[in-house]
Amino acid sequence: MNVKLDPWSSTNVEDYSKLFEEFGIMPFDDLYSRIEDPHRLMRRKVIFGHRSYDRILDAIQNKRPFAVMSGFMPSGRIHLGHKMVMEEIIWHQQKGADAFVGIADREAYSVRGTSWKKCRDTGINEYILSLIALGFEPHGHIYFQSDSNNVKDLSFELGSKVNYSELSAIYGFTGETSVSHMVSAVTQSADILHPQLEEYGGPKPTVVPVGADQDPHIRLTRGLGHKMNMFKIEGREDKNGKHYFSIRSKAAPREALEELADQIPGGTKLFEGHLDVLDADDFEELIRMIRDVELRYGGYAFIPPAATYHRFMSGLQGGKMSSSTPESHIALLDEPKEGSKKIKRAKTGGRISLEEQKKLGGEPDKCSVYELLLFHLIEDDQELSQIYEECVTGQRNCGSCKNLAAEKMEKFLKDHQEKRELARERLDEYLL
Ligand code: TRP
Ligand code: SF4
Repeated sequence: MNVKLDPWSSTNVEDYSKLFEEFGIMPFDDLYSRIEDPHRLMRRKVIFGHRSYDRILDAIQNKRPFAVMSGFMPSGRIHLGHKMVMEEIIWHQQKGADAFVGIADREAYSVRGTSWKKCRDTGINEYILSLIALGFEPHGHIYFQSDSNNVKDLSFELGSKVNYSELSAIYGFTGETSVSHMVSAVTQSADILHPQLEEYGGPKPTVVPVGADQDPHIRLTRGLGHKMNMFKIEGREDKNGKHYFSIRSKAAPREALEELADQIPGGTKLFEGHLDVLDADDFEELIRMIRDVELRYGGYAFIPPAATYHRFMSGLQGGKMSSSTPESHIALLDEPKEGSKKIKRAKTGGRISLEEQKKLGGEPDKCSVYELLLFHLIEDDQELSQIYEECVTGQRNCGSCKNLAAEKMEKFLKDHQEKRELARERLDEYLL
């Protein structure tokens, strides 16, 4: 048998496996086979985990409404890490999602002290132009947090369901943390939940593509989604082991519960504040009825947001990629020549000498140049596989990878920057 070749393993997914056990993130592998023409980042296991993504796949398959949402803080420069999230958003938009992109100016203002003017400028000239250049379609929604009354009003309401202790446990807030910083935390949850407001067609599965480190926000928001809803639905068993559902009212008026009791076919038992549903064979249908009643009585009936989790690229010099160290990453506005120079100087997984390299093979899993090829620069799986194989079997030298990556990067940057200029002319199709 051959040596085990896994061209997609590059940074050890094992590092992330504790996310599965500790935090209940599910392996993306389990769903992978259900995805029709998966995105490059899915095929290569860069997207390695998810929460509730099965709901999104159901929506895609049954052509039901769903949304994709993410946000960008308008501080700093747009780089390849942001590009990855943008590509995920655009992919879902192409699969039929109503797509939302928030420019998190309230967050930049409160957390980084960025002025409103600078937020506007960076939001448009760094993030929005690239988003459009990468293929975001104008039927989606791009907004600044500070412009959206829907987001601001919802964030205020969400704020009533979360307290300081909870935020401090999640974000490490202390007595020194400003109130606005805390507001920006619930604003992010409002970003994520607002595609489900009536204005945008009501409750729908929503996926948030994020880096693995962003999971605390997702958990907070999923929790808030639940807390905002009028009803709590639980599966139970009676003394004889027969399954039933208990629908408890948290904030529903009595009539809402009564209306539900009338509507649900089969046996129901109405108590003060809760309703037992004795034989519901179609759970999805039951949920839909509950949601409809909740909406009619002025509730939100939020569906907890889904998420996909991707791993990160490492820095070009090894270690972490950092937005404050230009040498560690490639920005989408780097001069194309500069981009290719950074690659020429990057750390590879090559051995000390050519001889060693031939004997032992290189280590693509530790190679930042290989990562660039895998994450961004090579679309064809076959071609990438071949590079991997040539590397580990000692038939490839780092110079040829660097040249290939540098050339492709230079071309990408040049091309992308041209597209950004075209996007600039189309801006008014996107922004009110
Ligand atoms: N907090 C995110 C960041 O630091 C930006 C953000 C704002 C966001 N709202 C969001 C991300 C909603 C995902 C979903 O970059
Ligand atoms: Fe990286 Fe290519 Fe060198 Fe292998 S040969 S270590 S993939 S640069």
